[in-house]
Amino acid sequence: MNKVKFNEDFPDITESNKLFKRSKGLIPAYTQTLAKGPTQWIKGIAPKYLKKGRGSHVWDADGNEYIDYTMGIGPVVLGYCYGRVDDAIRTQLEDGITFSMMHPLEVELSEKIRSIVPNAESVRFSKTGCDVTTAAVRVARAFTRREKVLCCGYHGWHDWYIGVTDRDAGIPAAVQDLTFTFNYNDIENLKQSIDADTACVILEPFVFEEAKNDFLKEVQEVCRKNGSLLIFDEMWTGFRIAVGGAQEYFGIKPDLACFSKAIANGMPLSVLTGREDVMRLFDRDVFFFTTFGGEALSLAAGMATINEISEKNVPEFLSMQGKKLKDGYNKISAGLGMDYTQCSGYNCRTIITFDPFKSGCNPLEMKSLVQQEMIKNGILWSGFHNMCFSHSDEDAEYTLKCYEKVLPLLKKAVDDKKVAEYLKGEPVEPVFRKTSNFNLKPKKLQ
Ligand SMILES: Cc1ncc(COP(=O)(O)O)c(C=O)c1O
Repeated sequence: MNKVKFNEDFPDITESNKLFKRSKGLIPAYTQTLAKGPTQWIKGIAPKYLKKGRGSHVWDADGNEYIDYTMGIGPVVLGYCYGRVDDAIRTQLEDGITFSMMHPLEVELSEKIRSIVPNAESVRFSKTGCDVTTAAVRVARAFTRREKVLCCGYHGWHDWYIGVTDRDAGIPAAVQDLTFTFNYNDIENLKQSIDADTACVILEPFVFEEAKNDFLKEVQEVCRKNGSLLIFDEMWTGFRIAVGGAQEYFGIKPDLACFSKAIANGMPLSVLTGREDVMRLFDRDVFFFTTFGGEALSLAAGMATINEISEKNVPEFLSMQGKKLKDGYNKISAGLGMDYTQCSGYNCRTIITFDPFKSGCNPLEMKSLVQQEMIKNGILWSGFHNMCFSHSDEDAEYTLKCYEKVLPLLKKAVDDKKVAEYLKGEPVEPVFRKTSNFNLKPKKLQ
């Protein structure tokens, strides 16, 4: 039941502001996850702390209710406090969390994943996305006895990847000079970059742009010819675009694949799957062990989540509900002649963009204005529709009604070239994430 309603006033965020003040100087960057932090939300208007969630709705520290379209930055694929998953966690909690020996769920969940994910001849668990992207890169280097990595997309905070971004402080130059980026949907770019020392090519099968001209098949072919391993970073695509992830959706089996986010509906679990002959190196030569790797609450949550996703065909639902929002948004913006804003991406996870050239306005200010007005009307909106199984028809209808109310306001602000004047707080900041034309060559050669 959607109890969120249109409001004339902005939410009271007193408690959020008090907490934020206490964290100043105490918690550097304020947040443990950049996308959840204050830079991504309009300052002075948006709440900063969430305390409770049920289904697709969340409540902030002041008790205000919102429909959430960020869903914990991806993990909450079924919904908050989802009965089947929470019951599995509770049942496991009765028996214990972390043990002194291996837990049967490690075997049971591995078998389940092998039955679903096409490339999962072998399976390893860990806690975070970058645990498994880093393990994948390390084992690829060991297997090929090569050092260079080509990547496309975001792959986490560890040295081998973050050194190619503009947030590279503290990463040795020697490490930075081993990783390079290539551009999505640009096979020539990959062909030019790959060489005899390339251990692996790691990429998100897609982010928002659709794969064109059999791009992923071509990438696989280039890797094969070059003797480099292909790694799919399925953090966003896994258990979301199809139960077996992008590899099932596109019919391409990468040598290794990395999963997290949607796999355990919010519990910290990540998974590396891949060829048995490659993964076998973890037996001894390649070290990949961590205290909480077999933590049982997350494994129980993973089992319940995967069962629910496959039994209820959740990917189909996400696509259907996401399409309503994507098409609905585009219809409203086109009807208003706003060719500078559109919603795009695969239906399960879409993005709303604002074109500075067509509009003549600052895209971050435009995004902030929409966010401000959506928040006023009870929608926690960060420019994405990260769909979950609990996003109801009512949620979708209400959200489209909100867009019908908010987009004319944006249009007026853009027509008047006065977007900044409509903002009641400081605009959001750019996400650092840049996925193309970044470190195409080693630093020392540039
Ligand atoms: C595609 C992709 N790979 C890797 C990661 C890193 O995962 P984590 O933040 O869990 O370490 C993320 C995180 O957002 C991601 O989106």
